[in-house]
Amino acid sequence: MSIRVEHVSKTFSAYPALNDVSLEIANGEFVALLGPSGSGKTTLLRILAGLEVPEEGKIRFGERDVTRDQPASRGIGFVFQHYALFGHMTVAQNIAFGLNVMKRSQRPSRKLTRDRVEELLVLVQLPGLGKRYPNQLSGGQRQRVALARALAREPRILLLDEPFGALDAKVRRELRVALREIHNELGLTSIFVTHDHEEAFGLADRVAILNQGSIEQFAGPEEIASQPASPFIRSFLS
Ligand SMILES: Nc1ncnc2c1ncn2[C@@H]1O[C@H](COP(=O)(O)OP(=O)(O)OP(=O)(O)O)[C@@H](O)[C@H]1O
Ligand SMILES: [Mg+2]
Repeated sequence: MSIRVEHVSKTFSAYPALNDVSLEIANGEFVALLGPSGSGKTTLLRILAGLEVPEEGKIRFGERDVTRDQPASRGIGFVFQHYALFGHMTVAQNIAFGLNVMKRSQRPSRKLTRDRVEELLVLVQLPGLGKRYPNQLSGGQRQRVALARALAREPRILLLDEPFGALDAKVRRELRVALREIHNELGLTSIFVTHDHEEAFGLADRVAILNQGSIEQFAGPEEIASQPASPFIRSFLS
């Protein structure tokens, strides 16, 4: 599903967190949002998820204006670094959560839900771990479960805010590869927030670089590396 951000501005008590941001992302693209701390990455992702409403501008998914739609009706999945798993639920219950809270008339049967959970566990390479509790998993395994939970309702758009931020470098690299494979296999459109250049450039089709609430450059990794659009980008990448 394509995504259009049109002239979006967001202010927190007179502080401009986003300033006239526009972005067009094609169906199937994997985009990284890269920028220093406080540049507005999380704010933009939360606006896309429907957790914040911008003062100015519009968000479109395909042709649909979703600017004021509730998160649950947007057809998105999200994984946030601090959006933890429910500790009192098993892995399978965590993954099924989004299905089990659906209205009775739309909710899949228990058998379908069980099958879907098994399928998702295979997808994130954790088959057979459905009965464990989150505290019986490694950090990397937990983030795989969080990803499976985000995918349970078959979103067309996946939003990720530093999902691997707390993990060590080797596990990060493994998860990055797994995520990119899942993105391709499911035909998702994904936006991945990071402040790690290597992660952004190694993973994304295009990288949007934010600085002080504005997009300074939005281009493929090679183009940004060979033709940085501003002195800020040159120094940020060096
Ligand atoms: N709820 C809020 N109330 C007040 N100010 C906020 C709020 N959320 C964000 N801000 C401010 O908006 C600016 C952008 O914040 P944001 O969280 O989007 O940055 P970020 O790029 O995600 O940074 P980081 O890399 O540290 O996560 C920051 O200056 C932040 O202090
Ligand atoms: Mg952030």
